Amino acid sequence: MIRVLGIETSCDETAASVVALDAAGTPEILSNVVLSQIADHAVFGGVVPEIAARAHVEALDGIVEAALADSGADLAEIDAIAATAGPGLVGGLIVGLMTAKAIAAAAEKPLMAINHLEGHALTARLTDGIAFPYLLLLVSGGHTQIVAVRGVGDYQRWATTIDDALGEAFDKTAKMLGLAYPGGPNVEQTALHGDASRFSFPRPMKGAAQPDFSFSGLKTAVRQAATAIAPLSDQDVADICASFQAAVADALADRVARALDRFKAEFPDKADPALVVAGGVAANRTLKAALQAQCAAAGFAFVSPPLKLCTDNAAMIAWAGIERLRAGLADNEDAFSFVPRSR
Ligand code: KG4
Ligand code: ZN
Repeated sequence: MIRVLGIETSCDETAASVVALDAAGTPEILSNVVLSQIADHAVFGGVVPEIAARAHVEALDGIVEAALADSGADLAEIDAIAATAGPGLVGGLIVGLMTAKAIAAAAEKPLMAINHLEGHALTARLTDGIAFPYLLLLVSGGHTQIVAVRGVGDYQRWATTIDDALGEAFDKTAKMLGLAYPGGPNVEQTALHGDASRFSFPRPMKGAAQPDFSFSGLKTAVRQAATAIAPLSDQDVADICASFQAAVADALADRVARALDRFKAEFPDKADPALVVAGGVAANRTLKAALQAQCAAAGFAFVSPPLKLCTDNAAMIAWAGIERLRAGLADNEDAFSFVPRSR
């Protein structure tokens, strides 16, 4: 039995978790405690790094204690401490890493510095036990990437955004329309009552040979449309949200189609190819349904881990620690190939 304590503080969630792997190779999440700081940041319309760092300092000790207590395991029974080392907001990362270092030193346990994106990338193996290689679509507030996950520590980034992350585009669109932070869920909810065909927004990068994403032009188009018809009625806002979401779904489908084709070409022997979706935007039902249909048509399984493991959490960090221990990769602070920049 291996048990790893994970700590995640890279953005606005203070999280700790204990994950175990038994002798038969079956994982189990023994505890998963996440404290969201959304209320602390909502009044500013986005995450304020300094406030986030201070909130992590205040909360983290209690969150770690709660994760240990919920797990039923004593610190002496933990095999390693895994903490997010980046990418993320540096103040929060320092709080998490220093806390993890102190616990590791006091309890004489190994410390593992985990890349946040590796946590997202490997979650589907914790939840669905899927085998390498697979394709990952990571869509969060900070990242928009397509990654070929070939093994533990073996990631090949096939696409990233050249400007905004997709979650960021949702959040900025919401802000322009006067919807509350975080914008993604509010745009989705508002779009339910809207007419997606009223505005024909650009489908960024559609048909482009370059594999990457871009959302900044779409955001500008939304601003221009909103300005042109201001003051906005509730129906106008709903129509803009629905049209925005339709444009995103279309742009995403085009980028994903290229990646599915490339995966088939690069791994022709893979009998059961899969696309895994992770990150907060994976909560969006419209986008999820579109991706699901696209995967079915292309012969790919569509894997979407439960939402609380798709958004930021520490179980994914503890799990990445277990995967690395199992693969004999104990310390990995700079062993990542898909994070040259934080997109
Ligand atoms: O993965 P996550 O919790 O945190 C990081 O950014 O790492 O993702 C948060 C992002 C925010 O931008 C939020 O607006 C977006 O995910 N999001 C959504 C939805 N729920 C959350 N975007 C679109 N539709 C949603 N239902
Ligand atoms: Zn994340």
